Amino acid sequence: MTLEAALKAASAELDRTLDALLPQPAGFHARVQEAMRYAIFAGGKRLRPFLVLECAGLFDAPRERALRVAAAIEALHTYSLVHDDLPAMDDDDLRRGRPTTHKRFDEATAILAGDALLTLAFEILADPATHPSGEVRARLVAELARAGGSEGMIGGQMMDIDAPNQAHGADEVIELQRRKTGALFEFSCRSGAVLAEAGDRDMAALTDYARDLGLAFQIGDDLIDATGDAGTAGKAVGKDEAQGKATLVSLYGVEGARREARRLAARAGEAVATYGEAAARLTALPYFLLDRQG
Ligand code: IPE
Ligand code: IPE
Ligand code: MG
Ligand code: MG
Ligand code: MG
Repeated sequence: MTLEAALKAASAELDRTLDALLPQPAGFHARVQEAMRYAIFAGGKRLRPFLVLECAGLFDAPRERALRVAAAIEALHTYSLVHDDLPAMDDDDLRRGRPTTHKRFDEATAILAGDALLTLAFEILADPATHPSGEVRARLVAELARAGGSEGMIGGQMMDIDAPNQAHGADEVIELQRRKTGALFEFSCRSGAVLAEAGDRDMAALTDYARDLGLAFQIGDDLIDATGDAGTAGKAVGKDEAQGKATLVSLYGVEGARREARRLAARAGEAVATYGEAAARLTALPYFLLDRQG
């Protein structure tokens, strides 16, 4: 299967899993559950779930378990977007091609829907249907907590918010992006190996791959912000420069950032070369992401 076909198939499978795992809006609190569904079924690229499925596939981990982990990371990622768009953060009106959750509902509902997606992620991982071994489940929970926490995604978001007030060099921007975006990519890839109880060498290879892919991906996101258009991106563009955000595009310029992303894409492929043909789609993915417009 080609990369594009595999992305599409994974996305459809994931949506079925999410539909079964997300609560059906009912009762006096239905509004928050409607907002959760609104945010998650808005047509995202589902990259993190795809990484879980591809990496779990390297070790033949059962698909239905991988799909649950994929649903958990997408729930946590979606929460991060809902909160990222709030007026107190990036203050965006458009996400995934439609009004942001706080625009469609209201700020309080968006905050609560984000919180509920975050906690749902852990509920999914902790369920015995995710893996019969309590030890594996605890490891998944601990890894996701670290990736999403103040040393991971939240830490990156803090640096991102503070960036306009601070002079940042390349090392700091890379650290910012590694936390803000890379941490969830790392979880996605590592969790595939955790599900299969793979060894340290596999964990290290997938971590290296995810680091480079995550950085290349965030450069792609920053390039879209710098050079893309809102219609294709499904979200506002031109905001990073206006808000003084520290990005590799602001440091290296558009061409320099593209070169760096290509270098990272090649190195990501080397990290998974030992898996041969089984990793063909993982190897192609960073290049595919560099060419994207949205
Ligand atoms: C957007 O992520 C946030 C970043 C980390 C840059 P994606 O570009 O993966 O967003 P969706 O899930 O496809 O909407
Ligand atoms: C957001 O980064 C990363 C998150 C952890 C949510 P951005 O602020 O650059 O993402 P977009 O451009 O709004 O999707
Ligand atoms: Mg942001
Ligand atoms: Mg944003
Ligand atoms: Mg961005």
